Amino acid sequence: MGEDMLAGGEPGNLVARVRTHRQAVHAFIDAVAAERAAAMARMEGLHRLRLATIDLAGRLRRAIHREYPRAKGDPPAPVSDLLEWIARLEAMARRATTEAADLAAAGAALDERLASSLFANLFMEVPPMTVTETLKHEHRVIELVLGAIDREARKAAHGEPIDPGFFAQAIDFIRNFADKCHHGKEEGILFKAMAEKGVPVEGGPIGVMLGDHEEGRRFIRAAREALDRNDLRAVADSLTRYTALLRQHIMKEDNVLYPMAERVLSEAELDDLAERFEAVEREEMGEGTHERYHGLAHSLAGEPARR
Ligand SMILES: [Fe+2]
Ligand SMILES: [Fe+2]
Repeated sequence: MGEDMLAGGEPGNLVARVRTHRQAVHAFIDAVAAERAAAMARMEGLHRLRLATIDLAGRLRRAIHREYPRAKGDPPAPVSDLLEWIARLEAMARRATTEAADLAAAGAALDERLASSLFANLFMEVPPMTVTETLKHEHRVIELVLGAIDREARKAAHGEPIDPGFFAQAIDFIRNFADKCHHGKEEGILFKAMAEKGVPVEGGPIGVMLGDHEEGRRFIRAAREALDRNDLRAVADSLTRYTALLRQHIMKEDNVLYPMAERVLSEAELDDLAERFEAVEREEMGEGTHERYHGLAHSLAGEPARR
């Protein structure tokens, strides 16, 4: 560019060149954004697989201990062997360096073992989800919508046409499922029970979670107001702040707060909370509401509905 100026090149040529460079820079930035989105999707997939594996290991272990209570001594050799396999799979899921393919292969190997007739009677009854399993499962549903919001917000940032109905539905999902139902159970039941056991609220981990919930509510209020003005860019902006906040928040709960709840609350206390969770679903949310929002999450994410 500088040489053209020195050589007294035509200003028109210079403008054309700058334009070409600018287009190349835009194309580059788009390619980086697409690569980043693909990398995030891969990471999210692995994160989900890790948590699903840890949940599965917990359930299998509970089912085995129900059939062979620890107090009654060691279970038969094939069952002890199975427990070891489960422990190995869980350790793999928790290891930061584990690749998705290795985890999937180990899961498939365990599945093959489980198919043995030796264990035919072991898993007749699937143990119900614990409080933390229920909340983590809801996190996975919420993450579906966070991913969909990020996808649509990227389109809005590029000036691509957006269906305002998408944002209206996403806000409805966040307000009713993520906030009223999910955060409601955390604030009204789980955090209270933890606080009673001495987990600090103000200035402590519970206070941080409550602060995140409040900040999220402010972003959603701003998004709703922007939607009412039909300012889709501002909607996308507020929602993107929300998705970044909530992803961090979910990670803190899955990895720090829920394991803490499992440590400070006894099994009987956790069972009691699970019953209170169900009462909230029935009485406050209303029969079928939870399922309806599950369906909405899958449709916003562009996936066929499943539970
Ligand atoms: Fe939370
Ligand atoms: Fe949560």
